[in-house]
Amino acid sequence: MIQIALPNKGASRDGVMRELKALHSADNDWRTGRMFSLIYNAGADVESVAREAYAEYMVENALSPFSFPSLLKMETELLSMIATLFHGETAVGSMTSGGSESILMAVKTAREWARAKRPGISSPELVMPVTAHPAFNKAAHFLGIRAVAVRVDGGFRASVPDMIGAVTENTIMMVGSAFTYPHGMIDPIGELSGFALENNIWFHTDACLGGFMIPFLEMEGYPVRPFDFRLPGVKSISADIHKYGYTPKGASTVTYRDMDLREFQFFAYADWPGGVYGTACVSGARPGGAISSAWAVMRYLGQEGFRGLASKAMRAAKRLRAGIEAIPGLHVLGNPDGTVFAFGSDGLNVYDLRDALKRRNWHVESQHLPPCLHLTVCPVHEEVVDAFLEDLAEACGEAASVSENDRTEDAVLYGVMGTIPDRSQALDLAVKYLNDLYRIKP
Ligand SMILES: Cc1ncc(COP(=O)(O)O)c(C=O)c1O
Repeated sequence: MIQIALPNKGASRDGVMRELKALHSADNDWRTGRMFSLIYNAGADVESVAREAYAEYMVENALSPFSFPSLLKMETELLSMIATLFHGETAVGSMTSGGSESILMAVKTAREWARAKRPGISSPELVMPVTAHPAFNKAAHFLGIRAVAVRVDGGFRASVPDMIGAVTENTIMMVGSAFTYPHGMIDPIGELSGFALENNIWFHTDACLGGFMIPFLEMEGYPVRPFDFRLPGVKSISADIHKYGYTPKGASTVTYRDMDLREFQFFAYADWPGGVYGTACVSGARPGGAISSAWAVMRYLGQEGFRGLASKAMRAAKRLRAGIEAIPGLHVLGNPDGTVFAFGSDGLNVYDLRDALKRRNWHVESQHLPPCLHLTVCPVHEEVVDAFLEDLAEACGEAASVSENDRTEDAVLYGVMGTIPDRSQALDLAVKYLNDLYRIKP
């Protein structure tokens, strides 16, 4: 096996930075709006505020609110702003490293709550639509809970009868998303959370993706489906600042209807020789910069700034959707609620289409079950709508002429993953692929 050792001697500062920039220059360029995933781009001014605020606290450790009270102040202020945004008059939250950690904490909290309030459940279950993020499957796996993934309706939203049908006496949690990542839908959270409330089941809204978009679309007069604490059955909401909150990665939140619920989240240990130890979430040490940059961007933008950005992204999403529908053979999946959507094709292999777009320096994500391509639309995309649609039409022509033999390894692999009948084999392949990816190659 190949390994590399830490160099004996250090390199010059300039040399290291030159090498770093050379490595960086080979990555996808997201600033130009040619990427439709991973980065939530609100433009150069927001980026510069986030960058400067992050650098100010880059080294500080948010583990200790006593050493860095300014971080505690910023964190509680921004959590309160978020609780207000979600109409939670008594709501309180915690900051986490990302959506997955927020979801892990919500599931853990729901489990502890059920242990206290509904004793006697020895095999807890969580009922979720199949479109909910795999962070729920991961959380369930980590926490010894059975995740029951339920099919969605023909419009790609959670099917209320199927969700209710999957509930058993062991169900401790039900989940809905706003938006769903794969198709950009808001699930029927009103109906689902109403059922959960009647049956003493914890309901969680996963607004990791839509939490900083939907409230501002509503303020701008767009019709939106209810998802927040105005629904009495919603006990917790996850919302990522590092998505449509436009701040660097490492900033998410989980918010609870009240402090009594949040109490089930904390961990403390009093018998450690190092002192009494307690944390809100998974992390011990936490980057101060994730808090300071989130706080600074929220203060910099204010409601007005977020509303303007939401409008820009929504205008771009609507034009993109209309343009895609106008290209023969392409269609948008369902009727998405906001700025995230997927499109598929009746005649083309969408993975060939993705490759043809990539050759034109456009980067979109592949999805399967059913095969489609995914766009997360951001404010900066308003500038590139026409150029993208022009290239997409051209890419369709190119994708139509790809033969089996010309297909890229990527396109073949993706096509195969969705069609393997034995899903445990697909799982095994994915794990082996990951295990191989993270090692030094010759
Ligand atoms: C709806 C939804 N939930 C959860 C997550 C997980 O967030 P993270 O990647 O920050 O862990 C995502 C990520 O895209 C998401 O879209």
